[in-house]
Amino acid sequence: MASRVKKILVIHGPNLDLLGKRQPSLYGQKTLGAINTLLKETARKSKVTLTILQSNHEGKIVDLIGKAKGRYNAILINPAAYTHTSVAIRDAIEACGVPTVEVHLTNIYAREKFRQTSLIAPVCVGQVSGFGAESYRLGLLASLTILAPTR
Ligand code: DQA
Repeated sequence: MASRVKKILVIHGPNLDLLGKRQPSLYGQKTLGAINTLLKETARKSKVTLTILQSNHEGKIVDLIGKAKGRYNAILINPAAYTHTSVAIRDAIEACGVPTVEVHLTNIYAREKFRQTSLIAPVCVGQVSGFGAESYRLGLLASLTILAPTR
Protein backbone atom coordinates (compact mmCIF):
# COMPACT_ATOMS: atom_id res chain seq x y z
CA MET A 1 0.00 0.00 0.00
CA ALA A 2 1.29 3.47 -0.86
CA SER A 3 2.54 5.37 2.18
CA ARG A 4 0.63 8.63 2.77
CA VAL A 5 3.50 10.78 4.02
CA LYS A 6 5.86 11.48 1.12
CA LYS A 7 9.53 10.83 1.79
CA ILE A 8 12.53 12.46 0.18
CA LEU A 9 16.09 11.22 0.43
CA VAL A 10 18.62 14.07 0.59
CA ILE A 11 22.23 13.16 -0.21
CA HIS A 12 25.18 15.49 0.30
CA GLY A 13 28.38 14.36 -1.40
CA PRO A 14 32.06 14.70 -0.50
CA ASN A 15 33.46 17.68 1.40
CA LEU A 16 30.03 19.23 1.94
CA ASP A 17 30.48 18.41 5.64
CA LEU A 18 33.08 21.22 5.55
CA LEU A 19 30.62 23.93 4.46
CA GLY A 20 31.02 27.14 6.42
CA LYS A 21 34.78 26.57 6.65
CA ARG A 22 35.40 25.51 3.05
CA GLN A 23 36.09 28.46 0.69
CA PRO A 24 33.26 30.56 2.19
CA SER A 25 33.66 33.20 -0.54
CA LEU A 26 32.63 30.50 -3.04
CA TYR A 27 30.37 28.14 -1.10
CA GLY A 28 28.94 30.57 1.46
CA GLN A 29 29.02 30.94 5.24
CA LYS A 30 26.26 28.47 6.01
CA THR A 31 27.23 25.15 7.55
CA LEU A 32 25.72 21.90 6.34
CA GLY A 33 23.71 21.87 9.56
CA ALA A 34 22.21 25.26 8.69
CA ILE A 35 21.33 24.05 5.20
CA ASN A 36 19.71 20.94 6.66
CA THR A 37 17.66 23.13 9.02
CA LEU A 38 16.49 25.18 6.02
CA LEU A 39 15.52 21.97 4.22
CA LYS A 40 13.68 20.60 7.28
CA GLU A 41 11.68 23.85 7.63
CA THR A 42 10.69 23.69 3.97
CA ALA A 43 9.80 20.00 4.32
CA ARG A 44 7.65 20.66 7.40
CA LYS A 45 5.68 23.38 5.59
CA SER A 46 5.25 21.04 2.61
CA LYS A 47 4.28 18.08 4.82
CA VAL A 48 6.99 15.74 3.56
CA THR A 49 9.65 13.93 5.58
CA LEU A 50 13.35 14.00 4.81
CA THR A 51 16.14 11.51 5.37
CA ILE A 52 19.38 13.48 5.13
CA LEU A 53 22.81 11.88 4.71
CA GLN A 54 26.29 13.13 3.89
CA SER A 55 29.10 10.89 2.70
CA ASN A 56 32.59 11.32 1.36
CA HIS A 57 32.47 7.80 -0.11
CA GLU A 58 31.21 7.03 -3.58
CA GLY A 59 30.25 3.44 -2.76
CA LYS A 60 28.22 4.54 0.27
CA ILE A 61 26.28 6.97 -1.93
CA VAL A 62 25.73 4.22 -4.54
CA ASP A 63 24.42 1.91 -1.78
CA LEU A 64 22.00 4.58 -0.49
CA ILE A 65 20.60 5.22 -3.94
CA GLY A 66 20.35 1.49 -4.62
CA LYS A 67 18.08 1.05 -1.60
CA ALA A 68 15.88 4.09 -2.41
CA LYS A 69 13.41 2.34 -4.71
CA GLY A 70 10.10 1.77 -2.96
CA ARG A 71 11.25 3.73 0.11
CA TYR A 72 11.49 7.31 -1.17
CA ASN A 73 9.29 9.32 -3.49
CA ALA A 74 12.19 11.46 -4.73
CA ILE A 75 15.90 12.05 -4.25
CA LEU A 76 17.59 15.43 -3.85
CA ILE A 77 21.35 15.16 -4.37
CA ASN A 78 24.39 17.39 -4.42
CA PRO A 79 26.95 14.89 -5.72
CA ALA A 80 29.70 17.52 -5.20
CA ALA A 81 32.96 16.44 -6.89
CA TYR A 82 31.39 13.11 -7.93
CA THR A 83 29.16 15.16 -10.26
CA HIS A 84 32.04 15.31 -12.68
CA THR A 85 33.47 11.80 -12.30
CA SER A 86 30.98 9.21 -11.09
CA VAL A 87 29.53 6.83 -13.65
CA ALA A 88 28.63 4.64 -10.64
CA ILE A 89 26.35 7.28 -9.06
CA ARG A 90 24.84 8.08 -12.44
CA ASP A 91 24.09 4.38 -13.06
CA ALA A 92 22.62 3.98 -9.56
CA ILE A 93 20.20 6.87 -10.13
CA GLU A 94 19.21 5.54 -13.52
CA ALA A 95 18.77 2.00 -12.20
CA CYS A 96 16.74 2.91 -9.10
CA GLY A 97 14.15 4.82 -11.09
CA VAL A 98 13.41 7.26 -8.24
CA PRO A 99 12.94 10.78 -9.67
CA THR A 100 16.01 12.81 -8.76
CA VAL A 101 16.89 16.50 -8.61
CA GLU A 102 20.56 17.55 -8.73
CA VAL A 103 21.61 20.69 -6.87
CA HIS A 104 24.77 22.76 -6.64
CA LEU A 105 25.62 25.75 -4.49
CA THR A 106 27.72 27.26 -7.25
CA ASN A 107 26.98 27.67 -10.95
CA ILE A 108 29.10 24.78 -12.20
CA TYR A 109 28.84 26.09 -15.78
CA ALA A 110 30.60 29.32 -14.79
CA ARG A 111 33.55 27.50 -13.19
CA GLU A 112 36.58 25.48 -14.32
CA LYS A 113 36.14 23.43 -17.48
CA PHE A 114 36.27 20.13 -15.55
CA ARG A 115 33.26 21.23 -13.46
CA GLN A 116 31.18 22.19 -16.47
CA THR A 117 30.23 18.58 -17.21
CA SER A 118 27.76 16.75 -15.00
CA LEU A 119 27.61 12.98 -15.54
CA ILE A 120 24.61 13.00 -13.22
CA ALA A 121 22.35 15.60 -14.86
CA PRO A 122 21.21 13.41 -17.81
CA VAL A 123 19.61 10.87 -15.43
CA CYS A 124 17.96 13.55 -13.25
CA VAL A 125 14.63 15.22 -13.85
CA GLY A 126 16.39 18.57 -13.51
CA GLN A 127 19.17 20.57 -11.93
CA VAL A 128 19.40 23.73 -9.78
CA SER A 129 22.85 25.34 -9.83
CA GLY A 130 24.25 28.63 -8.64
CA PHE A 131 21.97 29.94 -5.89
CA GLY A 132 24.04 29.04 -2.83
CA ALA A 133 22.04 27.42 -0.02
CA GLU A 134 18.89 28.54 -1.83
CA SER A 135 19.66 25.94 -4.54
CA TYR A 136 18.75 23.28 -1.97
CA ARG A 137 15.42 24.90 -1.06
CA LEU A 138 14.54 25.38 -4.73
CA GLY A 139 15.62 21.81 -5.47
CA LEU A 140 13.45 20.47 -2.66
CA LEU A 141 10.44 22.43 -3.95
CA ALA A 142 11.15 21.07 -7.45
CA SER A 143 11.31 17.52 -6.09
CA LEU A 144 7.78 17.95 -4.64
CA THR A 145 6.47 18.34 -8.19
CA ILE A 146 7.86 14.99 -9.39
CA LEU A 147 7.10 12.60 -6.51
CA ALA A 148 6.82 8.98 -7.57
CA PRO A 149 4.71 6.40 -5.70
CA THR A 150 6.39 4.00 -3.26
CA ARG A 151 5.34 0.38 -2.75
C1 DQA B 1 29.48 21.67 -5.88
C2 DQA B 1 30.30 21.92 -7.15
C3 DQA B 1 31.34 20.84 -7.36
O1 DQA B 1 32.10 21.10 -8.53
C4 DQA B 1 32.28 20.78 -6.18
O2 DQA B 1 33.19 19.70 -6.34
C5 DQA B 1 31.58 20.70 -4.87
C6 DQA B 1 30.39 21.51 -4.66
C7 DQA B 1 28.51 22.81 -5.57
O3 DQA B 1 27.59 22.58 -4.79
O4 DQA B 1 28.66 23.93 -6.08
O5 DQA B 1 32.03 20.04 -3.95
O6 DQA B 1 28.71 20.50 -6.06
